Amino acid sequence: MDSQVSFKKNGQINIVLHERENIIIENDAHVKDEGKDPFYRIDQEFSSFIGMNRLKETIKEIYANIEINQKREQVGLKTQNQVLHMLFKGNPGTGKTTIARKLAKAFYEMNVISKGHFIEAERADLVGEYIGHTAQKTRELVEKAMGGVLFIDEAYSLARGGEKDFGKEAIDTLVKHMEDHHSEFILILAGYPAEMDHFLSLNPGLASRFPIVLDFDDYSVEQLMEIAKQMMHEREYLLTKEAEWKLRDYLIKQKQDYYLRNFSNARFVRNTIEKSVRKHAVRLLKKNKYTTEELMLITKSDLTLD
Ligand SMILES: Nc1ncnc2c1ncn2[C@@H]1O[C@H](COP(=O)(O)OP(=O)(O)OP(=O)(O)O)[C@@H](O)[C@H]1O
Ligand SMILES: [Mg+2]
Repeated sequence: MDSQVSFKKNGQINIVLHERENIIIENDAHVKDEGKDPFYRIDQEFSSFIGMNRLKETIKEIYANIEINQKREQVGLKTQNQVLHMLFKGNPGTGKTTIARKLAKAFYEMNVISKGHFIEAERADLVGEYIGHTAQKTRELVEKAMGGVLFIDEAYSLARGGEKDFGKEAIDTLVKHMEDHHSEFILILAGYPAEMDHFLSLNPGLASRFPIVLDFDDYSVEQLMEIAKQMMHEREYLLTKEAEWKLRDYLIKQKQDYYLRNFSNARFVRNTIEKSVRKHAVRLLKKNKYTTEELMLITKSDLTLD
């Protein structure tokens, strides 16, 4: 690389790269603020999500890209708008909707989108009943989503009716808008992995419009236990050791015949906790008095697993 080095009076080295002055840019206060790590805030925001390492890395990459683009802009270098439309693939209860909602907020705080609102839609919100109706409905939905995130769950249902179905028109309209307004809103299509792959295979050219694909893996038993403990902690409850064993055993069995059942990962854990909390309340109410510990402890008999 051609470079020319000269020394300034203050001892700073001034390197000229390809006719450009080598300016030193400091990281902004908000980046350095919270103690050295530029990703501190992202780690904080997403710390309550167990696992999801790939997702956390992707968010950091997007954030770093935004920050560095701004620095490049400051020194007059070319910048590129990131296209952030995404595909989320994962089984029930793996956190797709929760993460999408959280991303809307995080991207707003990073200044990627101007409003940060979250719109969740499904087939019926996009597909109309007569010719022209679908394009209009879809366009209105995209307009509402401007500045925010449009999340379409079970996206493959748009392709359900085949060639003659209006769902196809919804897809085409979405594609047009996501190209035209790619930096004004973020479109996230979500669904179960096999169905999503099939859907994408039916619509060649669609996958390439989504630069970010995130796989939401099923949680391991250990991760589900961690999620359970965290949810209990947030609600100021505790599982007795016996209750914990009972839950772990049950999760192991559920995962063994996973393919026979419709196991819903973290949602199953949340539902179990909520049911158990109710059962615990009924048990306690039948007693005359109770201690703080009793008010917190979910026992084996409270744990409701069906
Ligand atoms: N990694 C995680 N850590 C903690 N809680 C989680 C995690 N993943 C999911 N949850 C919780 O599990 C529940 C279900 O998650 P969510 O509704 O986002 O799943 P989903 O993938 O959208 O499911 P579906 O495909 O059925 O719509 C929520 O209460 C969410 O907070
Ligand atoms: Mg969901």
